[in-house]
This record gives sequence, structure tokens and C-alpha cells, in this order.
Amino acid sequence: MYPNGIVYSEHPMSTSTQSAMPRYPLAQHLTQHSSLIYGCMGLGGGWNTNSISAGDIKQTEAIIECCLDEGIRIFDHADIYTYGKAEIAFGQVLQQSPNLREKVSIQSKCGIRFEDVHGVKRYDFSPQWITHSVEEILQRLHIEQLDVLLLHRPDPLMQLDEVAQTLIALQSSGKISHIGVSNMHTAQLDFLQSALPFPIIANQIELSLAKPGFINASIEPTHHYDGMAEYAQQQNIQIQAWGALAQGQFTKEMNNDVSMNVQHTTNMIIQLAQQYDVSREAIVLAFLTRHPVSIQPIIGTTNLARIKACAQVNRCELSAVDWYGLLESTRGNEVP
Ligand SMILES: NC(=O)c1ccc[n+]([C@@H]2O[C@H](COP(=O)([O-])OP(=O)(O)OC[C@H]3O[C@@H](n4cnc5c(N)ncnc54)[C@H](OP(=O)(O)O)[C@@H]3O)[C@@H](O)[C@H]2O)c1
Repeated sequence: MYPNGIVYSEHPMSTSTQSAMPRYPLAQHLTQHSSLIYGCMGLGGGWNTNSISAGDIKQTEAIIECCLDEGIRIFDHADIYTYGKAEIAFGQVLQQSPNLREKVSIQSKCGIRFEDVHGVKRYDFSPQWITHSVEEILQRLHIEQLDVLLLHRPDPLMQLDEVAQTLIALQSSGKISHIGVSNMHTAQLDFLQSALPFPIIANQIELSLAKPGFINASIEPTHHYDGMAEYAQQQNIQIQAWGALAQGQFTKEMNNDVSMNVQHTTNMIIQLAQQYDVSREAIVLAFLTRHPVSIQPIIGTTNLARIKACAQVNRCELSAVDWYGLLESTRGNEVP
């Protein structure tokens, strides 16, 4: 049974159509919400071989506390983030605070291997690598079970039955509770689902006001994610958006190098932030949460004030006219 009462899907600002069918079917009876996910890629002291400092642990602790204060209860990891240090830092905070585990939901990813003595950078969905990765993730995080394991990027060499058997074994042993994927298009997701006896609950993709391909795919199908918006709604698959803040492209000080589209969109965001009485970050994220698939933005900022600014998305639902205004601005042209 899902341990910590956290809904992966339902957005507090859901419209009637959205709330009618939570994206996360196993959690329908649960009441707590997490409209945002905190992305842990920036934790652990950076992408270097320095050991973790007391400051890195303190930073992680402060960020977790800030997220919980703001109602953000899902934490997104990957085995590779800062070469494992993000998970180690998070695990140390979990160890120091025994009650924390039940308040948070933890997901992590595996399947990407950096260049090493065995070969070039590659994806590896072999049973050995997936199983080994999960063991290591659990050890680094000091937990018994991952709430969700995501396959990080599609491996063209994936053997369907092998992967399915591995995931089934990991779930039966209690090491993972649920399965998700990342960066998969519709056919890849459907293909994997065909061999699994339980639902794939999430697909984590790059999606923001700067990278709205997933949304444009419903308008002009020429994109990697063609059909995904409709498929995800039909199958109750949670869409998680990485890069949701577009790395601050629309919220930081504008310099002269930025394109006309970004300048125009940024000015529109400033105006909408005043109109809706929320932060600019909230407008950037509201562009995602307004979509009927109930997108969960993953925010990767390590700045506490920005985390709070992001959480204001919970009180902002864009009108359809404003949403299309942002879409037109970021596309650089009107919809056909
Ligand atoms: N599945 C995948 O393949 C995949 C790939 C990449 C990431 N992810 C996940 O998604 C999460 C978020 O991704 P992301 O970090 O690329 O995207 P993001 O949330 O769009 O960007 C966060 C970055 O932008 C900076 N930033 C944001 N607003 C800013 C502002 N107003 N001024 C200056 N800097 C600003 C942040 O710096 P500060 O820290 O200073 O705020 C941080 O470095 C990651 O943590 C990870 O969990 C998944």
C-alpha cells in the first residue's frame, strides 16, 4: 500500500474535468496534495568529485523544510545527480530526522551510465544494471523502498521481457512501490506498458514555456510527444515536467542577447504576474498546470525564496485567453 499519503496527481486548482479523474489511480482515496515536485539535481555540492560538506547537508535540510512548508512533498532524484551526492545528502537528512520519511514521497531514476572503464556514455536497461542501481539508490537514501522508480531515458537496446521481469521482481521484493518512465514518447510507453501487470504512473519529460513541444503536439503533430497528452489522460499517466522554470529564462533579469520571443514573453509574464497578484515563477508554472493533463512541474531551484515564489502557482489558474497568449508568444506565431 502507498505509504505516505501523497497524491501524485490531483492539482488543488483542478478544474471540474481535471478533478473528475485523478491521474494517479491508486491514490484516489488519499487526501494530501503536492502540485509541484522538487527536483534534487542541484543538491549535494555540484557535479564534481568533492566530498559532501556540512554546508551541503544544511542546504538540503533547509530546502526540504521549505518545500514541506510550501506543500511540496514529492522529491525527484536520479542515481546520477551530482554523481550520487544529491541522494547521499538527502539520505543523511533522512537519517537525522526519523519522522521525515513518512512526510515525503521519493522518486529516483536509473538507466543512464556515464563513460567509465567499461565504455562510453550509454543507456543500460539490463536486469543487472537496473537491479544494481536500485540497491545503490536505496543505500544512498537510507530507505527501504522507493515510492517510484523511473527509467531515465529510453534505451534502444531494451529487451522488453527482461525489463518487465526486472521491474516486477523489484516491486514484488518491496524495493520499489511504483514505476514511471522519463523522456519516452507514446509508442515507447505503450510498448513497455504492454508487458507490465501494473500501471506506469508517470512520464517525466522536458516541458516549459520555453519548450512547449508537448503542448504544440496537440496542435500540429510533428513532435516527439505526438499523442502523449491525449494518451496520458486516457491512461491516467501523470506528466511530470522537468526544466519547468526554463532555467529562469523568463524570470531573471533580461539582457540584450535574448530573442524577441523571450523578451515579449517575459514582458507578458510581468504583466500577468501583476494581474493575477502572484510571482512571475507562478505564471511560468501556471502555463503548465492549466493543461487538463494535470502536469506536475518539477522545480530545480536551490533558492528558498524562489521555491516560495513557485508555490504561488497553487493560487493561480490562467484564463484560456491568457494561456493562449503565452503560447502564441513563446511559439513566435499564432496557432494555425
Ligand atoms: N528526467 C530528466 O531527464 C531530467 C533532466 C533534467 C532535470 N530533471 C529534473 O528536473 C529538475 C529541474 O530541472 P532543471 O533544474 O533543469 O530546471 P529548472 O527548474 O527549470 O531550472 C532550475 C535552474 O534554473 C535556475 N533559475 C531558475 N530561476 C532563476 C532565476 N529567476 N534567476 C536565476 N536562475 C534561475 C536555478 O538556479 P537557482 O538554484 O539559483 O535558483 C537552477 O539552476 C531537476 O532538479 C531534476 O530533478 C530531469
